Amino acid sequence: MRPGALAAFVLISASLVGGSGLAAATRPLPSKHAKSGLSCYDCHHQENPTQAAVPEDSCMVCHGDPVAMAAYTRHLPVNPHDPPKKAGHPGPFSCTECHHQHRAPEVKCLECHADFKLKAPL
Ligand code: HEC
Ligand code: HEC
Ligand code: HEC
Ligand code: HEC
Repeated sequence: MRPGALAAFVLISASLVGGSGLAAATRPLPSKHAKSGLSCYDCHHQENPTQAAVPEDSCMVCHGDPVAMAAYTRHLPVNPHDPPKKAGHPGPFSCTECHHQHRAPEVKCLECHADFKLKAPL
């Protein structure tokens, strides 16, 4: 999650997979991921993905697990990464239910909490 650690990881993974530039044009990514040179493999764990399947832990390799993400945004008035764990409350949500990547992000919480001031960055 620290920018330095992220950058180092991206460099390593890009050199392992390689050739992502061409494919990237076919399935655009949000700008921060595009600039960081992510390959298809980083998220799909496949060289030439044709389906939406993204293993649950793909994002966590670089960004930390749900516990780490909950801690990271705990300063917010409502924490999108830490919904109530009460019985009957929905969640936990997977990262990609909000951060869709090839299409605009959404914030699932707003389906029920229209008053929450939350906007997902990508
Ligand atoms: C940052 C992570 C990430 C990277 C990198 C990524 N994807 Fe995806 N991709 C996703 C997620 C998440 C979904 C599912 C989206 C959803 O459920 O809304 C998806 C869905 C897809 C789908 C099915 C939906 C559609 O748009 O047709 C295809 C095909 C796909 N990706 C291809 C690619 C290709 C090709 C690359 C490399 C150029 C790539 N992806 C790179 C995260 C990623
Ligand atoms: C290979 C490492 C890697 C993977 C895998 C990855 N990311 Fe990222 N992500 C990054 C980097 C690097 C940045 C840019 C950080 C920056 O510029 O501050 C970033 C930025 C982001 C941001 C925006 C942060 C901001 O400050 O605007 C979100 C949201 C995000 N990623 C979510 C995801 C999700 C969801 C997945 C899984 C589908 C994912 N990432 C997979 C490396 C990764
Ligand atoms: C319910 C929707 C939702 C889910 C699920 C979700 N996020 Fe987020 N995410 C958000 C919102 C909203 C923000 C913007 C928070 C803010 O205002 O700073 C965000 C911000 C981020 C950021 C940028 C943090 C920053 O301020 O630098 C990253 C990285 C990120 N999410 C990664 C993840 C990862 C990894 C997962 C899965 C473990 C995940 N998110 C699950 C909604 C979600
Ligand atoms: C399907 C509808 C639904 C969705 C989606 C949903 N919530 Fe809720 N949430 C509720 C309901 C109903 C309550 C009030 C009853 C309760 O406390 O369980 C509630 C209560 C809450 C509360 C107050 C809890 C308390 O202790 O009183 C918070 C905070 C909250 N939600 C955050 C979130 C966040 C963050 C998300 C997205 C990650 C989210 N909710 C998604 C329906 C939803």
